[in-house]
Amino acid sequence: MLVAVVVALIAAVVGIFGYTSIPTELGLYSALASFHPPSVGLTPALTYGIPWGFTWDEFYQQNLTGQTAMVTGANSGIGLDLASSLAKVGADVVMLCRNPQKCHDAKSKILQEETPIKGNIITMTMDTASLASVRALAEAYISEHGNDKRIDFLFLNAGVASSTDRYNKCPTKTEADQLDYHFQVNYLSHHLLYHLLKPFLSEDAKIVQTSSASSFVSFTYKVATDLETLHGCSEPQFEGGGSNSALNLAYGQSKLAQILWVKKLTRLLEPEQSKIRANAFHPGLTHTPGVGRMADSDQLAGWEQVMLKHMLQKAWQSPDGALTGLYLATGTSKNDIRGRYFHPQSQEVVNPMALDEKLQDDVWAFSDELVKAYMTPIQVPSQSTTSSDADDDETTDGGGNGSDQAADQPPVEQAAEIIENEESETTEEAIPEDVTEVKVPIEDAEPDAGVEIEEEAQDADAEPEVGGEESSEEAGDVTTKQEGEPML
Ligand SMILES: NC(=O)c1ccc[n+]([C@@H]2O[C@H](COP(=O)([O-])OP(=O)(O)OC[C@H]3O[C@@H](n4cnc5c(N)ncnc54)[C@H](OP(=O)(O)O)[C@@H]3O)[C@@H](O)[C@H]2O)c1
Repeated sequence: MLVAVVVALIAAVVGIFGYTSIPTELGLYSALASFHPPSVGLTPALTYGIPWGFTWDEFYQQNLTGQTAMVTGANSGIGLDLASSLAKVGADVVMLCRNPQKCHDAKSKILQEETPIKGNIITMTMDTASLASVRALAEAYISEHGNDKRIDFLFLNAGVASSTDRYNKCPTKTEADQLDYHFQVNYLSHHLLYHLLKPFLSEDAKIVQTSSASSFVSFTYKVATDLETLHGCSEPQFEGGGSNSALNLAYGQSKLAQILWVKKLTRLLEPEQSKIRANAFHPGLTHTPGVGRMADSDQLAGWEQVMLKHMLQKAWQSPDGALTGLYLATGTSKNDIRGRYFHPQSQEVVNPMALDEKLQDDVWAFSDELVKAYMTPIQVPSQSTTSSDADDDETTDGGGNGSDQAADQPPVEQAAEIIENEESETTEEAIPEDVTEVKVPIEDAEPDAGVEIEEEAQDADAEPEVGGEESSEEAGDVTTKQEGEPML
């Protein structure tokens, strides 16, 4: 704690404000950060003199032609850089965004970059604030590509830090599912996405969670494992003692859940001798549109806004924020890295709160419980089916569940050719045409079969109840679904 205070003071006075680079060049910040894990790699100054464990040169030497990467939150910041970098080395990239227009614009931006794009880019819509939207995306992807595009890299990156009142003691909830907003958007929907796509991952797929050093800042209970705790309205208590804003703690909780998740998944996959690897990373303080918005938002006190704006001048640029994630996906083949957590410059950092195996188990079980209505395995469409058959069958077999996923595994056909990118390719093209059987969640919920989720009004009554019995108004909670909320 003392070290943290010293780091903050010195940084604030001389380095971060850019009055002098002497402390940086003397290695003062990197030395101090090494005693304070959350600070490791936070900004370039804190890594001065430490070489990158994985460089852009190494990344660009790779050829990922024929491999498929899926990136959530791909239209902005770190997700956008993950998507564009992967496409440049030949990967086919599925960009998932909550807003189809933003997705399309982001894809256009990538295609206009100077470095040629070698992979094909598809855009699809998924709003992680809605479990039905996640389900619909998975169905659409599997219907369209389940036969030919196994997912080699799954980047669970979409994230947000938002609240209408940072000191509101009750958690902000998602409109669709009435669940803690940060927990669902940043973590829980990714849990569901993984479950639905698992049969369509390649046998040595890499899963990468974009977590955060904020994972060190959570509630005393670390991560909730029941709804009552998740939605509790008591004075937020900081794990490290004292209090912190509810916003910080809720965000930190979701980011800690992501690290617990990769550790639990690694343990689950071990007995199967699976080659799938899951890891998490913190991009560092990275100058992305999301953080830029946060620096201007009233979620921060005035002095915090000033501090953040100054720090952003010395922060990582977005591509560098993405590089540690790219390392975990593509640069670790020689090292068997799984279930671990890294900070910029590919340095491993241990978050002691994530080591608790009982907590890993409980968070996983709680997450399964929350998404169970959407978990029915999705069948891959038969390749011989015609479009007109599909029209008849699109939402058949509403109640089917429990099918043997191993037996249902589709034949794997590596995408041998790189399909040319076309500007006109939009979300509409991802709507399945040859669906023979797409199962819907049990309890007769009907997620939209297509991918244009935002365009259609969600019928709240048609969704399975996930987030508890109280309405948000009764609980005095705040529900939000705005776009463009700040995050960090
Ligand atoms: N930048 C940092 O300093 C920093 C530090 C630590 C961790 N992170 C993590 O890095 C990840 C990316 O953040 P960023 O800095 O690149 O911020 P960003 O520029 O705001 O990007 C966040 C992305 O997530 C998407 N997203 C937000 N809510 C969503 C929802 N409900 N459904 C689907 N997508 C949603 C955003 O879509 P819209 O554009 O539509 O909002 C955007 O594409 C986040 O998980 C964040 O927690 C960032």
